[in-house]
Amino acid sequence: MDEMDMEDIAKALVAPSKGILAADESTGTIKKRLDSINTASTEDSRRDYRELLFTADGVGDYISGVILYDETLRQKASDGRPFTEVLNDRGIIPGIKVDMGAKPLAFSEGELVTEGLDGLRERLAEYYTLGARFAKWRAVISISDGAPSQYCIDTNAHALARYAALCQEANIVPIVEPEVLMDGNHNIDECYAVTETMLKTVFDELYKQRVVLEQMLLKPNMVVSGDTCPIQAEVEEVAVKTLYCFGQTVPAAVPGIVFLSGGQSEMQATTHLNAMNMMDKFPWEISYSFGRALQASALSVWQGKPENVADAQKAFLHRAKLTSAARDGEYNSDME
Ligand code: 13P
Repeated sequence: MDEMDMEDIAKALVAPSKGILAADESTGTIKKRLDSINTASTEDSRRDYRELLFTADGVGDYISGVILYDETLRQKASDGRPFTEVLNDRGIIPGIKVDMGAKPLAFSEGELVTEGLDGLRERLAEYYTLGARFAKWRAVISISDGAPSQYCIDTNAHALARYAALCQEANIVPIVEPEVLMDGNHNIDECYAVTETMLKTVFDELYKQRVVLEQMLLKPNMVVSGDTCPIQAEVEEVAVKTLYCFGQTVPAAVPGIVFLSGGQSEMQATTHLNAMNMMDKFPWEISYSFGRALQASALSVWQGKPENVADAQKAFLHRAKLTSAARDGEYNSDME
């Protein structure tokens, strides 16, 4: 794996039938997930849960890369081997979340800007030595009356590009994640408009800051209706509007678009991904970098109990297999 350059890594991450598992929940977020199954969040329980996912038999058939959190990148599996080695052995590329979370944006109540640029060059150098070959930085944009402001979009896009340039300098493929949240009662066209503006701004910044497009991946939201919008767009409309939006904004030199699931159910996210991959030709690979939409079933089967590990792994593999089928445009709901 070490001989691969950034372009090879970016392409490998979006290889046919494969996509990324986002398992980079911060300590706060993983606690919420573990709370939901009445399991205490400890270093050991977090390790056990991640190990369950990474060692499921055949996981490498569907998962090209895993995004890890700092703690997990440094952890060892129960057999004493570092998780990075466990993943590499399965042909899975280790990645690392490097942002420090979204914090309140000054002078713009309710809006957020992602932090983590200070010391990033040094952190990336260390992450490379620990085995990370790609990274992730998530910007969060929410839609409500009067929001997002152009100020919030510009500030987040600037930070995303600074992060991406530092990654490439360190030989680490940046995944650029501008997430327009689906929370709210806005309709799909409002999501379209905000996503389009955000992506235009992001690619403008990436250009200004000399980021090499062949050596990155984009991790966007799909263009969908707000989760409390009374009119929910159909699958076909989501697929058409999402692809049209990217056609307007994402240069063909970008090797792949890997979607986040963003709160969609496992089945919704899979169905939308499949619909896009069934459409006419587009210049990028269209794949996944799902967190919740790959993990929800496995987490609920596991319940924090060692005796459920095998069944939880089965549930995870089943979900990964369906998501992989959708990535190839070969999924249908009978496979559920
Ligand atoms: P979800 O698929 O649960 O949105 O998580 C993906 C992710 O990495 C968010 O940053």
